[in-house]
Amino acid sequence: MADTSAKARIDDLRERLNFHNYRYHVLDSPLIGDSDYDSILVELRQLEAFNPDLVTPDSPTQRVGAPPSPEFNEVQHPQPMLSLGNAFGDEDLAVWHKRVSGLLEIDNFAMVCEPKIDGLAIALTYENGKLVRGATRGDGLRGEDVTANIRTIKAVPLALRPSKNIPPRIEVRGEVYMPRDAFAQLNEARAERGEQLMANPRNGAAGSLRQLDSNITAQRRLDIWVYALGWIEGGSTPDTHTEVMSWLRDLGFRVNPELRRVESLESVSDYHSEWGESRFHRNYQTDGVVIKIDRLDYQRHLGIVGREPRWAIAYKFPAEQAITKLLKIEVNVGRTGALNPYAVLDPIPVAGVTIQHATLHNEEDIRRKDIREGDYVIIERAGEVIPRVIGPVVDRRTSAQIPFQMPALCPFCETPVVHEEGEAAHRCINSRCPAQQYERIRHFVSKAGMDIDGLGEKLVSLLLEQRLIADFPDIYKLTVEKLIGMERMGEKSAANLMFAIEQSKQRGLSSVIAALGILHVGGETAALLARRFGSVPRLMDVTKGELQAILGIGPIVAQSIVEHYQNEGNRLIITELAEVGVTLQAAIIPESDTLQLFDGFRFVVTGRLQGFTRSEAEGFIKERGGQVTGSVSKKTSYVVVGEEPGAKADDARRLEIPTLTEQELRVLGQEH
Ligand code: IVH
Repeated sequence: MADTSAKARIDDLRERLNFHNYRYHVLDSPLIGDSDYDSILVELRQLEAFNPDLVTPDSPTQRVGAPPSPEFNEVQHPQPMLSLGNAFGDEDLAVWHKRVSGLLEIDNFAMVCEPKIDGLAIALTYENGKLVRGATRGDGLRGEDVTANIRTIKAVPLALRPSKNIPPRIEVRGEVYMPRDAFAQLNEARAERGEQLMANPRNGAAGSLRQLDSNITAQRRLDIWVYALGWIEGGSTPDTHTEVMSWLRDLGFRVNPELRRVESLESVSDYHSEWGESRFHRNYQTDGVVIKIDRLDYQRHLGIVGREPRWAIAYKFPAEQAITKLLKIEVNVGRTGALNPYAVLDPIPVAGVTIQHATLHNEEDIRRKDIREGDYVIIERAGEVIPRVIGPVVDRRTSAQIPFQMPALCPFCETPVVHEEGEAAHRCINSRCPAQQYERIRHFVSKAGMDIDGLGEKLVSLLLEQRLIADFPDIYKLTVEKLIGMERMGEKSAANLMFAIEQSKQRGLSSVIAALGILHVGGETAALLARRFGSVPRLMDVTKGELQAILGIGPIVAQSIVEHYQNEGNRLIITELAEVGVTLQAAIIPESDTLQLFDGFRFVVTGRLQGFTRSEAEGFIKERGGQVTGSVSKKTSYVVVGEEPGAKADDARRLEIPTLTEQELRVLGQEH
C-alpha cells in the first residue's frame, strides 16, 4: 500500500510538471529551464518506482514506453474528418465569400484566418479529462489508432487542465507536424547513416507517426497545432470559433497565436499576403491560410457538401518544394578559391518563382545525399534567395547516372585542385585564377567592403577582361582616360566613378579589412581586428596567440589570418594599397594600448612553467585585468599549459577551450 504522503507529493509533482509543460508548449513562455523541469521529472519517476500502484496513464512519466504493436487498429470517426476546398487567388476567395453571403443572406460576417499547417490531421479523444485516443484521419471516416505515438508528443496534454467546464467526452482536432529544425536534423542523421532522405517535414511527421514502435516516434521531435473541436458530449459549446479556440487553449491545447478574426475580404487578403512572406520565418511549414466563418450557428446553417464544409476554405500558397530534373552539376570558384558546386535544373516554379539553379554546398554533401547528374531531385525554397537541393528521388533513377566527382583541375585556370584534410571545400590555390580575381574584386568594391558606387559586377568583369585591372591596387590607378575608352562609359560616368574610387580611400580601417577578403573574416571580425590592432600593417604580423586572445576570434579564423599574410603576394598588395593612398590606419588609437589587455578573460594555469613561478604567472595575468580560476569550465577563456600538465589540459581539450604555451601567454600580455 502506498503511503498518503507519497501520494500527495506525487500529485504535487504532476501538477507542477503539467503546469510547466503548459507554460512551455502552449503559452510559449516557460518559467523554468529544462534542467529544473527534468529534476522534477526525475523525482516523480523515483517516487513512482517505489509506489507502482500510484502510476496512472496520465502521469507525465508515461509518455514513452508502450510496447511495440504488430499493427494499428482501425478507428471509426464518430464525426467524419473533413477536408477543405481550395482557393488559389483573391478571385476564388471572392466567389466563395459571395456564395456564403447568399446562403446566409447577409453581407457582413466575421471570419477567422489561421495558418494552414502542412502536417497530418489528428483527432484526440478525452474522457473525463484524460487522453484516451489519438487517431489519424485515414479516409475521413476510418483512421488508425496511433495513441501510443501521439502520447510521445509533449505538446499533447495527457490530461486536460483543471477547469470548471470539462465535458465528459470531447474530441479535438489538430495538425501534427515536424518542426523545420527537427526535420533538418533528422535528414542530416539519415544522410550520415546512408539512409534515404525524407522529402519534406510532412513526410517526416507521417513517417514518425506511422511507427509501430512508439519508442522511435519518441525520438523524433513532433509538435501539434490544434485547430478545431471535433465533437463534444455532455457539455456546452461556445458560440464562435474564436471562443472555441481560446477555450481549448485554456484546457491545455496548443492553439496557434497567429489566429486573426477579421470582418472583410480585404483583411483576409492582407493576412494571406503577410503570411506569404512570414511563413518562411516560422519553424513549421504552412501551405496556405484557412478561412473559417466565426459564428458556429452560421457554420451549421451553411453545412457540408461532400467532404468539404461550405463554411471554410483553404487559400493556398505556391508550393515551397518541387521535383525537377537535375540537368548538370557545375562548379563556380569563389573569392577564396573554394569550388562551389551548383545544380543546373530543368526550370520549374517554386513558391512563385521560376528556379533554374540551386546550391549544392560541397562534394561531401553531394556524395552523402547521393545526388547525381540526370537525377530527379527535390528542391526547396524556404526563404533563402538561392534554393537548395534536398536530395534525389531514387525511385526515378535509371541506371545511367554516375556519382559526382569534383573536377581535378580548376574549371577557370586549370590549376590542380587541392582538398585539404578536414576541410569540406576543394580549393583552387592559384591566387591569379581569373574566377577568384573576379570574385575578390567584386567583393572588394561591394557594400560589404570599400563600397565603390558605380563599380558593379559587369564593369569589374570588363575591366578584368581588358586587363585594365588585375588586383585591388589597380582600381586606384584607373583614370578617366582609361575608363572612357570602354563600352557605354561616358565622360560623366567615368568622372563619377573616379570620384567614388577616390572617396573609398577613406572608407575606414574595418571596411578595408573586410574588403581584403581574408578567408573567414567578415564584417564583424574585421571590426574586432580594427579595434584591437589599429592598422593593416600591424595585422600582417600578428601571431595566432594574439588573435585568439580577442573575444570572438577562434583558432580557425586566427589560423586563416596568419596564413593569409604568410603569402608574399598578399603582403605586396598591402604595400601597393598604401602607395596608391588607401588609408590603412584607424583614425583613433586602438584600445590595446591600455594595460588591461586581459580584461574579461578567465585563465586556468596547469603544469610546470619555465620562466614563471605559479604565483608570478597568476600575477602577470591579474595585473592585466584577467581572472585566474582553479578549474576549467565553459567560461574559461584560456588554459595555460606548462610541462607535465594535469587533468585540466584534458578538460580544455574536451571543452574546446584554447590553450596557450607560456611563450604565447607572454606575447598576449605584451603591450605594443
Ligand atoms: S480546419 C473542415 N484548420 O488541412 C475543417 N484544417 O485540407 C477541417 N489543416 O484535413 C480542417 N491547418 O489536416 C483546418 N488551421 C487549420 C488547418 C487545417 C491544416 C489541414 C487539416 C485538413 C486539411 C484540409
